[in-house]
Amino acid sequence: MFSMMFAGVHAQTLQSPDGKFEMNFQLKQGIPYYNLKYNGAVVVEDSKLGLRLFKDTAIKFASEIAKPEDAKFDLNNGFTKKAENRDSKNETWQPVLGEKKSYINHYNELAVTLHQDATDRDIVVKFRLFNDGLGFRYEFPEQKNLNYFVIREEDSEIDFPTDMKAWWIAADYDSQEYQPQTTKISEIPARWPNSFDSNASQQMVQNAVQSPLMLKKEGKDPLYVNLGEAAVLDYPASNLEVDAVNFKFKTHLTPDRQGAKGYMQTSTVSPWRTIIVSPKAEEVLASKMMFNLNEPTKYKDTSYIHPTKYMGVWWEMIIGKSQWAYSTAENVHIGETDFSKLTPNGKHAANNTKVKEYIDFAAANGFGGLLIEGWNVGWEDWFGHSKEFVFDFITPYPDFDLTMLNDYAHSKGIKLIMHHETSGSATNYERWADKAFKLMNDYGYDAVKTGYVGDIIPRGEHHYSQWTINHFYRIAQKANEYKIMVNSHESVRPGGESRTYPNWISAEAARGTEFEAFAGNNPDHQTILPFTRWMGGPMDYTPGIFQTKLDYYFPGDKRFVKTTLAKQLALYVVMYMPLQMAADLPENYQKHMDAFQFIKDVAADWDDTKILSAEPGDYIITARKAKGTENWFVGGITDENRRDYTVDFSFLDKGRKYEVTVYEDGKDADYINNPQSYHIYKKTVTSKSKIKINMARSGGFAISIKVIK
Ligand code: NOJ
Ligand code: CA
Repeated sequence: MFSMMFAGVHAQTLQSPDGKFEMNFQLKQGIPYYNLKYNGAVVVEDSKLGLRLFKDTAIKFASEIAKPEDAKFDLNNGFTKKAENRDSKNETWQPVLGEKKSYINHYNELAVTLHQDATDRDIVVKFRLFNDGLGFRYEFPEQKNLNYFVIREEDSEIDFPTDMKAWWIAADYDSQEYQPQTTKISEIPARWPNSFDSNASQQMVQNAVQSPLMLKKEGKDPLYVNLGEAAVLDYPASNLEVDAVNFKFKTHLTPDRQGAKGYMQTSTVSPWRTIIVSPKAEEVLASKMMFNLNEPTKYKDTSYIHPTKYMGVWWEMIIGKSQWAYSTAENVHIGETDFSKLTPNGKHAANNTKVKEYIDFAAANGFGGLLIEGWNVGWEDWFGHSKEFVFDFITPYPDFDLTMLNDYAHSKGIKLIMHHETSGSATNYERWADKAFKLMNDYGYDAVKTGYVGDIIPRGEHHYSQWTINHFYRIAQKANEYKIMVNSHESVRPGGESRTYPNWISAEAARGTEFEAFAGNNPDHQTILPFTRWMGGPMDYTPGIFQTKLDYYFPGDKRFVKTTLAKQLALYVVMYMPLQMAADLPENYQKHMDAFQFIKDVAADWDDTKILSAEPGDYIITARKAKGTENWFVGGITDENRRDYTVDFSFLDKGRKYEVTVYEDGKDADYINNPQSYHIYKKTVTSKSKIKINMARSGGFAISIKVIK
């Protein structure tokens, strides 16, 4: 009787706390479907859920993988509803570092237990409906007939009723460092083959795109939709396969070398699939749904986690002025080669004299950290050779005096930031991690930049496959044991996991400033990234390039950073990053100390954030209140178009006076013709004031706002 009640065709309906969203779940011929409505209008049409599996016990690879697909193992059909559980939550929580002091986690939940009669197995589909959209995931309770299984594919669909504008990058199991493309969903397949350039590690997925994916239904009642994933733990990251005719997306997980997409042991869960929806682009940027879907941290001590602004012995290597490697050798053996006997190449940047100069400048200007790359032996043949023992992370080059430089830095209030490039050799990094972190503790380093350039070792694993993602979290947890903060490059894009692992402060995981010295970034790049890569956590974009034209170093060089100087300042507010870099060389800042003042003043962590105005691909204007103060900062950026914007200071406290310093593009500024033209002025404002700003092509502005006591 009881099970018959649930076996009917009726849908389960779930509403968001504010009643604006409605999600319906139903089984059609035993297949699970959901849809999503916003203000009564269909946002997501009936979309299928489910997973396909390899044989679900006693996996014998490669034989099992080679077998044709067998539907009887799959978890996507033949279901009846067994139970339905509802829950809700309305809590506020404090991120260790964040864009606001506290985040609101408010949702209604529906968990439907599905029974597969033929195999006598249960799975649960759990939905959480927030005021900013939907999250759902699969749960696999421990049970007699489902203990160990291997995923062939997760087939979660998101089916839109109409074509939409899309900001996307091509899907790849190994890199996210691609130029964003702006097309309709229907145009993705035509653009796809020309949407990416080469990368040191790359396995593209045809006609698929990466998440977070930003979409917009254009027209009279625009609607912004963001697709992502949250809490991607012990599971591969997913791409989205595109059905350009039906405007439909489907998950496509990153495989291991055998083609398997997740080795599971019950009881366990999948990541959350996220669909953020709003008529306002600003509200998409403000959404913290991906963080809310992650678990609170279990770390006992987070007191060592702190925001820092840092400089680096870095950009000069990226542009090709200096080198990471010390010698002219091309083949070195860690632990055997005597580097002091090699011929120096004369371009090694991480040397005692230069590092001291950087320390002096960083200290004189109030920075907390200095990153030094190329300090350790092994850079002579560091990548492209599938060399497992590529670095030991503890042996400095002969011209880098670790003890002296650390003492010197500490004496001036600077902490050196460690660099661990792994060249993708994750096995080697795991082997050395304890020694490497211990050395950091011994010398008082508390932050590490890791890197994964090149193909992953274990060979055949991808940057976003389950094993490698587990590696990233093993490193984050080990770093926590040593009270070390992590900023990773070439790692997987985040999905709000910093709520659980707050010492994994940031990742690169997208095309950063470095690409301005390679194949280039488009002028609209920084207006897209906050809507895509940033939705799940901070990015190490490395802003602050004042000398944007590289012919300054190499006459005739055509490379240039495609922004004005004022836009570089604005990035410090627009791009949330608690471990924030000032990436240019000291000599370039020295020439513009008036503009550099903004980078010195700007905060890196915040009590409040207001997205004043935004449109993906066009512009973003953001106001943020500095942590623990009454001071605010505003940053505004535009794409390749000039744009006027009037800053309305009504976000300030009423009845108070503030002194603002405005850093704007000069009248003749232009990212191609005159990027270093800027204008700085001071003014007194109240919450009633407005200031009109002109942004140059790929320009911007920054404002610091100090309360007058
Ligand atoms: C690529 C990283 O993105 C960059 O920041 C770093 O300098 C190089 N790898 C070398 O590790
Ligand atoms: Ca990179």
